[in-house]
Formats: sequence, C-alpha cells, structure tokens
Amino acid sequence: MKLSKESKEILANNDQLIESIRHDNMAYFTTHGRKKKYLILTYGCQMNEHDSEKLAATLETMGYEATPFQTDADLILVNTCCVRENAELKVYGKIGTFKTLKEKNPDLIIGICGCMMQQDHVVQEIKKKYRHVDIVFGTHNVHNFPGLLNEAMTSKHSVVQVWDIDGEVIENTNSSRKFELKAFVNIMYGCNNFCTYCIVPYTRGRERSREKEAILDEIKTLVKDGTKEITLLGQNVNSYGKTLDNPVSFAELLEDVANIEGVKRLKFMTSHPKDLSKEVLEVMAKHDNISKYLHLPVQAASNTLLKSMNRGYTRKDYMEIIHYARNLMPEVTISTDLIIGFPGETDQDVEELLDLIKEVRYDSAFTFIYSQRKGTPADEMTNQIPDDIKHERFNNVLNSINEIIYEKNLACNDQVVQVLVEGHSKKDDTLTGRTDGNRTVHFLGDESLIGEFVNVRVTQPKKFSLYGELVEA
Ligand code: SAH
Ligand code: SF4
Ligand code: F3S
Repeated sequence: MKLSKESKEILANNDQLIESIRHDNMAYFTTHGRKKKYLILTYGCQMNEHDSEKLAATLETMGYEATPFQTDADLILVNTCCVRENAELKVYGKIGTFKTLKEKNPDLIIGICGCMMQQDHVVQEIKKKYRHVDIVFGTHNVHNFPGLLNEAMTSKHSVVQVWDIDGEVIENTNSSRKFELKAFVNIMYGCNNFCTYCIVPYTRGRERSREKEAILDEIKTLVKDGTKEITLLGQNVNSYGKTLDNPVSFAELLEDVANIEGVKRLKFMTSHPKDLSKEVLEVMAKHDNISKYLHLPVQAASNTLLKSMNRGYTRKDYMEIIHYARNLMPEVTISTDLIIGFPGETDQDVEELLDLIKEVRYDSAFTFIYSQRKGTPADEMTNQIPDDIKHERFNNVLNSINEIIYEKNLACNDQVVQVLVEGHSKKDDTLTGRTDGNRTVHFLGDESLIGEFVNVRVTQPKKFSLYGELVEA
C-alpha cells in the first residue's frame, strides 16, 4: 500500500523532531539530575496495546523513562477504547482526575489518543470540558506523535489531530520492542465488516494487510530474541491478504509462520465465521506448533439476530465449521464472544442461544451486554431492549456458560497437560501458564521454569482455571 504525501512528510521529519526533544530532555537531565518520566494508560484491545508499544518506543528514544505513578509523570498518555459505553466512562473518569495533577504541575503534558478520538462528539467534549488536555490525536495519527508533542511543548496551546481516512500501513521504524515470552503480531488493521452494533470499522478504518515478508521478518526477529509464543492479530484474520498487490491467503501466511524455526506455539485471533476457510483448519491440524485453540465469536444464535447484526452466516454455517474443526482436531478448544440484549432480541432468541451453548460446549466465552454506539446502524433501531431485561438475560446466559466451563475443567482432572510457564500468579505463590488449548494452570515450582514448557498433572480443577502438580520430565 502506498503512503499518503502527508504521511511521507511526517515520517521524513520524525527523526529530527525526536532528536530535538531528546536534546531538550538531556538538558533537563543535566539541570535536574533526573530523566523526564512518562506514563501510558492503555484501554481496549491489542490494537491499542500495539500503538502504545510504538508510542513508548518513541518516548524512550526521546530520552523519557517509564514510571508506573501518575504523580511522578511529566507526560501522561491515555490510549482510549469505545467499543462499549463503560470503556468510555472509565476514560472520562480518568482524565477528570488529571485536572488536579495539572494544577500542581503546569508543565505536565497530557495526551489522549486511540479509538474514542475518532468520534467527533468525543473530541468536542474534551475540548469543552477537559481543558487541561494538551494533545488529542486519532488512531491514524500515531506516527505523527513527535510532531504533535513538539507543537504542544513549544506553542503551549492544545493540539488536535484526528484524520478521518481509511488508514495506512506504516511499518514500525522505531521498534524497540522489549523481550516478550508471548508476542502479539498485527497482520492487518481495520475492519470492513460493519456488524451493525460495532464501532470498530469507524475508529480503525478500512481493512488493510501488512506485506507477508514484513510479518515473517518481525516474527523471525522476535524468535531470535527468545519469544516462544506468537499470536497473529487482526479484527478478521481470515480475510488477511485479500487487498495486497500480490494477494496471499491467511492459510498460506499461517503455514509460513508455523514453519519458522523457533516458533514454539502459534495462535491467531479473531476468526470471523463467515471467512474461516477449511484450509486454515487443515493447516492448524497439520502443524504441532499451532495451538489447537479457536476463538470463533458467534455473537448470537438465531438467524434473525445474526442477519440484523450483519454477521453474514447462519447458525447452520457456524455449526458446520465447528464440526469440521472437531473432526480434524478432536482436542480443539473453542471460545466465543456473545452479545446479549441486541435490539429486537426475544425470549425465543435467548433460548436458541442457550441451546447453541449446550450444543457447542464452549471452553470459554466473553459475554457482553449490548451497548448502543453512536453512528452505528443498531443505535438507530427502535426496538432497543430495556436494561433490566438485558441484565436478567445476561445472568442467565452467563450461568449456563459458566456451568459448562466448570464441567469441562472438571473433566481435566488427573490429566497431564503441557504448560508454557508465563510467570508468578497474581493471587498466590504459584507459577502460572497456559495449555495449548488456552486453559490457565497454576502449580508450585521454581521460577527458573518461567519461559519453559513443563508437564503438569491437574489435581484441582476450579471454575476458571486448573491447579496441578509438576510432573518430572
Ligand atoms: N473483530 C472481532 C472483535 C471485535 S470487538 C470480532 O469480530 O469478533 C470484541 C467483541 O466486543 C465483539 O466480538 C463483540 O462481542 C463485542 N462488541 C462489539 N461491539 C459491541 C457493542 N456495541 N455492545 C456490546 N458488545 C460489543
Ligand atoms: Fe466489529 Fe464485526 Fe469488525 Fe469484529 S468483524 S471488529 S465485531 S465490525
Ligand atoms: Fe476498543 Fe478500538 Fe480495540 S474500540 S476494542 S481499542 S479497536
């Protein structure tokens, strides 16, 4: 994909701007005896995590140092999400609290970016009610952060840049990625599906894929640096490569990544049921290093709702994929996303969903209450469901899903599972990691095992995780 003239100019000037801020920061270090500090707060999905990673790398090149404390920071960035209303409310609450910080330290720079900023009404609200914010920029302007920061610091007035374009693929020139045991690799950006409830196509622009070679090179570097697990990321990975000058299928990309020496575990998400091909499932079955784990959001079970959501498949189509996958890989674990309370949802629709849940017997599920998003077709639908009914249905569905997940966890009792050890558990003194099928496992062991694959015998299945004992190799 070609870069726009504006983006080319921005990229051409970035090095000089970064160098000039770095120079000022070194002078600050000499006079104050400490480096300037930054804090990035990231909400939402891996798309935002990825942008935050790029912003952090740029700030470090500029000579800033990370701090976990907002009271310590000279620069705070909030990378926002608007997929549901509660995500937005959290962000407004957070930026409100920065007002007193700014009063105490007028030199503090506050920047807000991410998906929320792609909505004009949000930018207007921030300009009007959150005057302590210095920089506002959108998801298509991350590469211009050095320019925006420079302008905010020199002009002392607030700077806003939100492009409303389809988006570009800007390869990460400043990729000082830290070592990660598990790394997420974006293979594409944006989304063309326009599910009627969803804001993502409006905030992230049209679907566009990275060149296959750029993806493979990034993964080879990660693996060389010690990364064991790779997750290929996109809003709809199964349509990867369609818009490239030389089109490539997701199945081809997946196979090429699986063949890279050192990729010990390979996952991908999200799969859209309308685009998941049999070839992809066959590649999955063929390669031992591809996790036998499929995240396949169904959202709803009734064909009326699926149509009204613009999902592009029927319940029958969905079940055919599940059967094909299970025939090829009997051990495959399957997770999903569900939306409860979509406009027009009837008791019968909920019954159908409960029935589908029992038929598929998911290994895990993310269940969301439908949230009206401005600018989406579903927001205009007149048959919205009252909150109390949404909550009642949500609790019903959640109970039914959780019962099945617990039963499936109980069935793992006494089994020996292979775990990639990720670190210490947050709750207790155990080590924690995940199985090939994405189940969380806790066990006692030496911290030298972090980063290794170990065998664990499950001794105590719990509701959402498994506890076990290390089995000597
Ligand atoms: N591209 C992915 C995920 C996108 S967002 C996919 O298509 O599956 C993650 C999940 O948030 C969606 O799967 C959906 O279940 C949920 N979601 C999106 N918009 C929502 C809304 N307006 N209200 C409630 N849940 C929503
Ligand atoms: Fe949203 Fe649908 Fe695109 Fe997923 S596929 S990001 S739910 S529009
Ligand atoms: Fe949220 Fe944007 Fe991701 S709306 S879910 S951060 S693409």
